[in-house]
Amino acid sequence: MRIDNDRVPLNGRAATKNRMTDANGLSVVASGLTMTFSPRRGDSVTVLDHVNFDAQPGRMTAIVGPSGSGKSTLLYCLSGLEKSVSGLVSLLGKEITQMGVSELTRFRRRHLGFVFQSYNLITSMTVEENLALPFTLRGKRLPRQKSDELLRYFGLEGQKKKSVTLLSGGEQQRVALARVLLSDVDIIFADEPTGALDQESGAKVMQVLKSLAVDSGKTVVVVTHSDEVAGQCDRIVEVRDGHVLNADAEGGARA
Ligand SMILES: Nc1ncnc2c1ncn2[C@@H]1O[C@H](COP(=O)(O)OP(=O)(O)O)[C@@H](O)[C@H]1O
Ligand SMILES: [Mg+2]
Repeated sequence: MRIDNDRVPLNGRAATKNRMTDANGLSVVASGLTMTFSPRRGDSVTVLDHVNFDAQPGRMTAIVGPSGSGKSTLLYCLSGLEKSVSGLVSLLGKEITQMGVSELTRFRRRHLGFVFQSYNLITSMTVEENLALPFTLRGKRLPRQKSDELLRYFGLEGQKKKSVTLLSGGEQQRVALARVLLSDVDIIFADEPTGALDQESGAKVMQVLKSLAVDSGKTVVVVTHSDEVAGQCDRIVEVRDGHVLNADAEGGARA
């Protein structure tokens, strides 16, 4: 992968893009988000307790906190993958907590990208089929030229007909990133994206995520328990026992 020297392909919509935000310039806003789970009948555990959160386009926001503090649950509620018990979530100026299932699914496919520690690829499919998936779901074809360009950039051009299960962890995460780049979404939610990678692969993944924010004006929200990863973000939001501690701490990467 030649990330050190080259611009990330397909990543040039930059500041001229008409960004969708609310009146305050925010692309992600959650207020009073509360989430409970009932591990046993009659038992209820509060995992998020009236959490407020926001994020802006063009910036990487880190969500940090110890294991079990509610980071992933917050990310899933923010992205509509989980439905909170109460509270509001607005993305790109639209309240997703008011949307019905099919509207939310369409919104997610069009606007949101996901990068997980476990890569979240379909293991029965090839690299190229995984890249095509967001298009197939929208009834479209894979833009093959762009897809080949990205595969070359990520050093995966010889692998496109291979099952993703034959790839290393770093390669699989690059396929997940290529998929996000190709489908040109507005908000990228990443849950421990470098958690299963060696340092070099992890650093490259972070570089691509950073470029998505800085060069393309995307909103990037990264859950991590790595200080190094958080330090590369523009802003750090700390979660502890289902509460946000310091929503306004600045990360080390602000220009
Ligand atoms: N589907 C679920 N059912 C029951 N408990 C859950 C579920 N998902 C998460 N939890 C609990 O919520 C808490 C926070 O989990 P999580 O958001 O995954 O934390 P983190 O990502 O910070 O490690 C944990 O105690 C976890 O066991
Ligand atoms: Mg987690």
